[in-house]
Amino acid sequence: MKVIIKSDYDEMSRYTADYIIRKINRHNSSPAGAERPFVLGLPTGSTPIGVYHCLVEAFKEGKVSFANVVTFNMDEYVGLPEDHPESYHSFMARHLFDHVDCPASHIHILNGNAPNLEEECRKYEEAIASYGGIDLFLGGIGPDGHIAFNEPFSAFDSRTRIKTLTKDTRIANSRFFGGDPSRVPEMALTVGIATVMDSREVVILCSGHSKALALKAVIEGALTQMWPISALQMHARGMIVCDDASAIELKVGTYRYFKQLENV
Ligand code: PGA
Repeated sequence: MKVIIKSDYDEMSRYTADYIIRKINRHNSSPAGAERPFVLGLPTGSTPIGVYHCLVEAFKEGKVSFANVVTFNMDEYVGLPEDHPESYHSFMARHLFDHVDCPASHIHILNGNAPNLEEECRKYEEAIASYGGIDLFLGGIGPDGHIAFNEPFSAFDSRTRIKTLTKDTRIANSRFFGGDPSRVPEMALTVGIATVMDSREVVILCSGHSKALALKAVIEGALTQMWPISALQMHARGMIVCDDASAIELKVGTYRYFKQLENV
């Protein structure tokens, strides 16, 4: 696992956006770029907003195009109207898709209002497979170590499915619903841990003091379903990009080791 520790949120966001831009541009200028699109997995939440901002800026400056990028979002609430301001459809339009040239037909977000939710999940996995899998999955991390809506005790081999949200997650997300956890939908559709880990590369963002214990668990802890993100330890091309505030619980030796590697 690679760990990049940046001094603050802005640096972390810029680094990650530049990394993604490099990957897209490299793909597009290689023979593979003519044959198939770059397939990008995307998260919602507060943490990736900085990355999306940098990606939009880079697009406006002509440094990257999303015309040959296909996207798959991680998750969506069940039963929340698509045009609700807190739906993940709205979030993605607001922070990324309304501002870049990604064709609408390339954008995939789970439909939490589908008449048959199980079928929706199955079709999502099929759609990912039809593009030959995901090249790079960008993700966030919950204070309890969840990835997408894979809460603690989710199976490592889980696939896209319906999940009941934990009380912790509903409380954490209540900040977007007037501070009232009961207004946060009880269920969501989410890609599974295996869906994320099947990607050729996984990049996880982690920012702020509230994520410090989760970061310690994924980097220094054991592989355990209690911390779903610990699955990243098994990925050959897993990378965490974090800031100093979230790195506060790491051992001094761990912190120095990754800082040294970054400078090599
Ligand atoms: P956050 O959410 O970026 O809003 O902290 C991350 C997550 O819950 O995965």
